[in-house]
Amino acid sequence: MHAIAIRRLRAADGPAYRSLRLEALERHPASFGTALEDVAGHGPDWFGARLEQHLTLGAVRGEVLLGTATLALQEGAKLRHKGDVTGVYVRDEARGLGLGAALLHRLVAEARPRVEALRLTVGAENPAALRLYEGLGFRPYGCERRALKIGDRYHDEVLMELVLAGDPALEPLDAHHQESPRGA
Ligand SMILES: CC(C)(COP(=O)(O)OP(=O)(O)OC[C@H]1O[C@@H](n2cnc3c(N)ncnc32)[C@H](O)[C@@H]1OP(=O)(O)O)[C@@H](O)C(=O)NCCC(=O)NCCS
Repeated sequence: MHAIAIRRLRAADGPAYRSLRLEALERHPASFGTALEDVAGHGPDWFGARLEQHLTLGAVRGEVLLGTATLALQEGAKLRHKGDVTGVYVRDEARGLGLGAALLHRLVAEARPRVEALRLTVGAENPAALRLYEGLGFRPYGCERRALKIGDRYHDEVLMELVLAGDPALEPLDAHHQESPRGA
């Protein structure tokens, strides 16, 4: 049995990333702004190129990709002080082991020297993800009503932020969170 490792995914991981990403979009449409039909027609090379464009961390056991989290940085001079967290997903069979928290903890460590704040959106009816982000120190700063429309149903999203610099009131995250996934 291989241990679970967290590492950056690169272009060569395109096939595994495509498979996991399409699974996530199919099983959890309300959890992601991207629709399955937006990307299902793209092949592994397209997904591999995305891995070089943004920093995507993967939780891997041997050759099996179990989960991901992506940090998207902006290039504009007025926008590059903040980053977006997207594509947070842990496969069913690996949930509840601390992998989501381990991926996010590493992603925050990667972001800390690069940006002053991280932002993300999360479904207002997604208690697992809300709990995950709150545990990492993300705080809600707004709510976008009807953020997603799937079929004829609307879904509200909570806007969350983690301030990394410029707010001395915040304690270091390291005091509260372990580096390794539980049971990994
Ligand atoms: C959200 C998700 C990534 C969590 O991954 P995970 O590896 O199971 O999470 P962890 O084991 O690291 O748990 C992190 C925290 O969330 C809590 N949590 C996990 N699943 C939960 C659930 N179903 N209900 C309530 N809390 C839950 C854990 O108890 C833990 O909190 P704690 O440290 O206070 O105990 C996973 O459920 C998932 O992929 N869901 C579908 C896709 C999705 O919604 N992605 C988020 C898009 S914004």
